[in-house]
Amino acid sequence: MELTYYGHACFAVKIDGKTLLFDPFISGNPLAASINPDQIEADYILLSHGHVDHLLDCPSIAKRTGAMVIGAYEVINWIAAQGVEKTHPMNIGGRRSFDFGSVKCVNALHSSQLPDGSYGGNPMGFVISGDAGSLYYAGDTGLTLDMKLIAEQYHLDFSVLPIGGNFTMDAEDAAKAAQMVNCNKVVGIHYDTFEPIRINKEEAKAVFDKNGITLLLPSVGETITLK
Ligand code: NI
Ligand code: MN
Repeated sequence: MELTYYGHACFAVKIDGKTLLFDPFISGNPLAASINPDQIEADYILLSHGHVDHLLDCPSIAKRTGAMVIGAYEVINWIAAQGVEKTHPMNIGGRRSFDFGSVKCVNALHSSQLPDGSYGGNPMGFVISGDAGSLYYAGDTGLTLDMKLIAEQYHLDFSVLPIGGNFTMDAEDAAKAAQMVNCNKVVGIHYDTFEPIRINKEEAKAVFDKNGITLLLPSVGETITLK
């Protein structure tokens, strides 16, 4: 599996020949100025919740690529109202098979509101599992014991966790989350974009190191191979 980081909480994973794009927020992120959202390819777009820093560029990328957008029922209603035709609504606890593997929607402790102020349903994380491997994307979340359930049901190759604090877990809590889901390879996201989530990257790495977990912090535009 290959992961490309597009800044903030946006990344793409190539799994079984399909490209899954998560939480596209590029045109509003000065740290992702080197990325042109009009050139990003996707077969599927997965949205963790309705906050604008997770879906700003979703409608335009979905319409151009024809990607299917997957997310909470309420988020998908809003996306469909923007003119996106291929959508698939889910909700927490749901699991569904696609041509790249399965998507399970898991609990995230956060909030969710769409750009027009309407209710976004429950925020969620995703476990993606297929022949090529398994990954957990936590979405925006605080640390929660529910993460232990993931370790009981899946063997994860890597996890993508927020580490910026303030709105989500910080590095210390994310390292604890990695232990709970029993995964020793973590890609850190959701940091540095805004003032309240600025971090010291070396300190964050040290926190994970101390717990025997590798924290990967790819730069914007960088592609890394995981598994
Ligand atoms: Ni959020
Ligand atoms: Mn966010």
